[in-house]
Amino acid sequence: MAPTEYTRIVLNERPLANIDSKTFRKEVIPFNLNPGKDEVLVQVIYLSLDPAMRGWINDKRSYMEPVKIGETMRSSGLGVVAKTSPGSKLVEGDVVSGLVGWTEYAVVPEKGLHKIVVPEGAEVLDFLGPLGMTGLTAYFGLFDVAKVKPGQTLVVTGAAGATGSIVCQLGKIAGAKVFAVAGGPEKCEWLEKELGVDKALDYKSPTFHDDFKKSVGYLDAMFDNVGGDILDFALTRLNKNAKIALCGAISDYNSKPKGLTGYLNLISQTASIQGFLVFDFAAKFPTAIQELTKWLTEGKIKRKFHVVEGLEKAPETLPLLFSGGNTGKLVIKVAELPRKDSKL
Ligand SMILES: NC(=O)c1ccc[n+]([C@@H]2O[C@H](COP(=O)([O-])OP(=O)(O)OC[C@H]3O[C@@H](n4cnc5c(N)ncnc54)[C@H](OP(=O)(O)O)[C@@H]3O)[C@@H](O)[C@H]2O)c1
Repeated sequence: MAPTEYTRIVLNERPLANIDSKTFRKEVIPFNLNPGKDEVLVQVIYLSLDPAMRGWINDKRSYMEPVKIGETMRSSGLGVVAKTSPGSKLVEGDVVSGLVGWTEYAVVPEKGLHKIVVPEGAEVLDFLGPLGMTGLTAYFGLFDVAKVKPGQTLVVTGAAGATGSIVCQLGKIAGAKVFAVAGGPEKCEWLEKELGVDKALDYKSPTFHDDFKKSVGYLDAMFDNVGGDILDFALTRLNKNAKIALCGAISDYNSKPKGLTGYLNLISQTASIQGFLVFDFAAKFPTAIQELTKWLTEGKIKRKFHVVEGLEKAPETLPLLFSGGNTGKLVIKVAELPRKDSKL
């Protein structure tokens, strides 16, 4: 039975700094969703919360159009096909991933959806983690951009987060010496004891810079998720020809960046810093997914999900990414995965 109404969360106003209680608003609206040609209706099950969402609600030129005021908040997620249109390759009950948005139900162009077949030893949520954009970002940033080699000294920032925690483990698989930078002793302990990094460094500790100098010395490769002061400091600790993959800069998403003072070291060490977008590697996704699946099912990659229940919780949960309230991948559970035979 189709519901009579459904909930969605829209952008209410653009934040000037941190996301607050006025940034989004909830709407409960009549259910009149029907897929048109080449579209399908999706019931949303899980939503991925990503730091990039902070950028999507700025009115600035970027790699995607800004979300408009009053529009459903853009979000990738996992859902179940509830209704198809004639000629569709998907069938009702298929589990899919794609840009579904902060809503219980969405009509989505079929070409924007990816059908999920969960491999033995994995779970559906892995497609927002190691087998989704998170894992792919870690994989291409580390192997294609930072080009890490066996024996190299690798520094990973935001290391206890979704992307960073996968990068750390891929770094070990690649034979690098892995130094993980994260906020607080609990995260550092998890990184060392569970994920097997060589050393985790707490950037909130007053001795962080000394700890970094003593344990890392100089670095060959860096996977940077946070930018700002930590990146600036790392620029003073580069080995010859070091490569920095600039994946993100979460420390600067809520304010105007201060700028880097250590960049002259890129010249003296003939080092490089390269930004990248995971989507640019789309042609190579299938090979990467194959490798990531192998490592996951062999137990070489561990993952942690921080699951918050309820679509209405999305606006207050998204800021956890900026306060460090998450360990591993932060997701919202919107609904239970329906039984295969249930019909909308
Ligand atoms: N380039 C691409 O294609 C691409 C794709 C996906 C993601 N990204 C980027 O990758 C990064 C990680 O994303 P994610 O989804 O995996 O998020 P995440 O790492 O799971 O969550 C963000 C983490 O950042 C840390 N953080 C927040 N503010 C910080 C600050 N001021 N200084 C240092 N650390 C801070 C927090 O951990 P602590 O407790 O350790 O502070 C927090 O848990 C983001 O920058 C994101 O924009 C880029």
